[in-house]
Order: sequence, then structure tokens, then C-alpha cells
Amino acid sequence: MKKFIVNGGKPLNGSIEVSGMKNAALPVLFATILTEDVCVIENIPEIDDVTLTLDILRKMGARIKMLDATTAEIDTRKVSGGTAPFDLVRKMRASYYLVGAELGRFNKATVGLPGGCDFGVRPIDQHIKGFEALGSSVEITNGVIRAKADDEMHPAEIFFDVITVGGTINVMLAASRIPGLTIIENAAREPHIVDLANFLNTCGAKISGAGTDTIKIKGVSQLHGCNYAIIPDMIEAGTFMLAAAATKGSVEIKNVIPRHLESITAKLREMGVEVIEDDESVIVTYKKILKKINVKALPYPGFPTDMQPQMCVLMTLCNGTSILTDGVYDNRFKYVDELRRMNADISVDGRTAVIYGTDRLLPATVRAIDLRAGAAMVIAGLATEGETVIEDVHHIERGYDNIVGKLCALGADIKTVKYDD
Ligand code: EPU
Repeated sequence: MKKFIVNGGKPLNGSIEVSGMKNAALPVLFATILTEDVCVIENIPEIDDVTLTLDILRKMGARIKMLDATTAEIDTRKVSGGTAPFDLVRKMRASYYLVGAELGRFNKATVGLPGGCDFGVRPIDQHIKGFEALGSSVEITNGVIRAKADDEMHPAEIFFDVITVGGTINVMLAASRIPGLTIIENAAREPHIVDLANFLNTCGAKISGAGTDTIKIKGVSQLHGCNYAIIPDMIEAGTFMLAAAATKGSVEIKNVIPRHLESITAKLREMGVEVIEDDESVIVTYKKILKKINVKALPYPGFPTDMQPQMCVLMTLCNGTSILTDGVYDNRFKYVDELRRMNADISVDGRTAVIYGTDRLLPATVRAIDLRAGAAMVIAGLATEGETVIEDVHHIERGYDNIVGKLCALGADIKTVKYDD
């Protein structure tokens, strides 16, 4: 087990570089299965979810060579479907992309139900609706998803009832190899959807409209390998932007696409934080006591739900009362109990939290209950004078590349300590 020990109350200053995006890298890595060829994927973040994904691919028969720490050469010619080990698949949400990838390549899929962060019920009914529309039957028994097309799969027009990132990606994966025109309406518009479409198109797919709510996929019978670089992680960038503001510091965040950060930049500016954008970087500088704001997390281009816990911490440091609503998940406020240990004054009713600004948080021992909640605890610890201990940091290491090293480079006093359970 590992914990972080943070001696907070020091402004972050300097510059850091953002890694490749977790939520783009994972679908692209699984999508290499569709190529039956060799792909070179660059700018992969060094995070536990990527290690797990590469392990799953290896167990399925892929040959993987790391050309450097962030570049993998992946040969999926010998991959067999239905061979992903359940104990690995269960550890991560993104493993459900194997269903779309296996269906696209083998016309059938057998994959354990995925794991991932606990935000209450996380149904996959829209994925199933998509696969069924494409001609596959889908059964879930004993924790295993079994999808199978008795005849050839066929293109379809699919209208999602809710905007779903995973559902959009899974249908894109399967449909990219089903000849004919598949149309997804009410599609998710996140930058990682665009990144996956760009990867598949580089492999010979014909996908248009990614980034809008209508995506058109002209399926092809064969894809080929390619070289592809993953986009920068907007959530990692946003986490550092909020950490700079919470610690009253000034941080240049490099290797970003500022357009992806617009909803975060707009909210920081509303709070009185200076954000200067350049072509591939942003500089975030604390100027004066933070103003209270209201934020509602929504699908892209709205404020990201994956920045909601970090924003909650910033709101505890505001002058006045802020309101934070999660428009994506039913139950993403469980971490509030941990912030209360640090003297935060927050009341939660369903999807909405009311946050009463305090002049200071107090150090405590808290848990990283999931990935982004863990990042929020790190920001809280950095902004708080005294020693904050954050336990269960394996959740954070699933999705943040070298967070301790990057924060130390900005002058933070944070270290990782191993301990017995
Ligand atoms: N939903 C349904 N039915 C479905 C699918 C989703 O009702 O079939 C609901 C969900 O319950 C949720 C909403 O739709 O209320 C959105 O879920 P979505 O499918 O968009 O989420 P996801 O694909 O499971 C990805 C990210 C999450 C991120 C969400 C929203 C990955 C691996 N995960 O999850 O990232 O919160 O999109 O942007 O890409 C994280 O990185 O910390 C993380 C949790």
C-alpha cells in the first residue's frame, strides 16, 4: 500500500508538461486489435491503467515492444478473441472497449464486466443497444458479457438515449469494420472521441463528424497499422490549473490544447484567477481571494465531471457559498466526507453540493476514494498548512502520470510512503 504525505501551504510555481490523455490512450490501445497489424502508439501516459491495458493485450496474444517509456509498438496479428483475463478486465472501466474491438474483428466477443470508479450505478444499456442494432446478440451472465452475430453484422442508425462516451466509442470500434454506413446520433463530443476517430482514420477507417453529436462511420472490411500520437490529457492539465489557483501560485502548463480547457479556464477566470493561453500552454496565476461560483458538470464541451471533485476543493477556499452540480453521474460526491475531515463545510443533496467557503482547511488523514477524488485530496493537502496524509493512492496512480514528481518540480512538499495494509 502507498500513501502520499503532503506538507502544504506552499504556492506552486514553475512549469510542467502534461502527459498523453488516459481516456484517449485506453480506447486507442484496445482499438489496435481491429488492425490485425503493427501500430506504433506515441505519447502514452505512464499510468497503471495503461500498464493493465498492455498486460491484457499481451495475454490476448499481442506482441508489445516499448520503444521508449511512452511509445509502444503493438502487433495484434496473433490476438485471439475471448481471452482477456477476467481478473484484469475487472480492474478497469475501459476494458469494455474489448467488446466493440472483438466484435469488429471476430464478429463475437466474450469479456468480463468492467470495474472502474464507484459513482453509483453505471449501466451499459446504451452499449448493448448499439451492438444489437449492429446485428449482434448480447447476453450478460455470471459477470461476463457475451456478444455474437449469427449472420454478418450490418450498419445501423443508432440514437443514444443518454450521451455516453463509452457507448459512442464502443459503437465506433465495432462499426469501423462493418461495411456500410453507421450513424450515431446524440453522440458524445469529447476530445478523446475525436482522437479515436483520428487513429482509426489513420488506419484506413472512414469516420466523419467526430466532435459533433452526429458521427458517420463508413465501415471497411480491413484496417491497417499506423503510427499515432495520443493527445494531451485535459483532465491532468485541469488538475494542475486548479492546484495552481488553490495554492496561490503561478504555473505554466505545457503540452496542452487550450481549446479543450475552455470550460475550466472560464470558471477560473470567473473566480478571479488569471489564465493566459498560448498555442500549446496555459499560465494560471492566483491574483486575489477567490470569488464564489456555481458550476454544473456536463458532457463536453461543458465543465468535465472528471474535474468536479477538484473544483469542489477550490470552492471550499472561496469567499462565499458556491453550488456544484454533477449533471453526468448520480453519486459522485462520496469524497465529500474526506474533505469534511479537513474542516470543509459542504452539504450534499443528490447531484448537488452546497459549499460554504472557509478561510482555511485543516490537515488530516484522508483517503483517495477514487481517481479524481484522490486528485482533489492532493489539491486540498497542497493548499493546507501542515501535514495531510492521503491513503489509497493506488487510485490516483491509475490515471496520473508521475503526479508526485511533477508537483515536486513545482516546489510542492509531497512524498510517497509505502506501508503495510
Ligand atoms: N450511461 C447510461 N447507459 C450507458 C452508458 C452510460 O445510462 O449505457 C450513463 C452513465 O451512468 C453516466 C452517463 O451515462 O451517468 C455518462 O457515462 P459515460 O458512458 O459517458 O461514461 P464512461 O464512458 O463510463 C468515461 C470516462 C470517465 C468519465 C465519463 C464522462 C473512460 C475510461 N472513462 O466513462 O472517466 O467520467 O466518460 O466523461 O473514458 C475518469 O477518468 O476519472 C473517469 C471516470
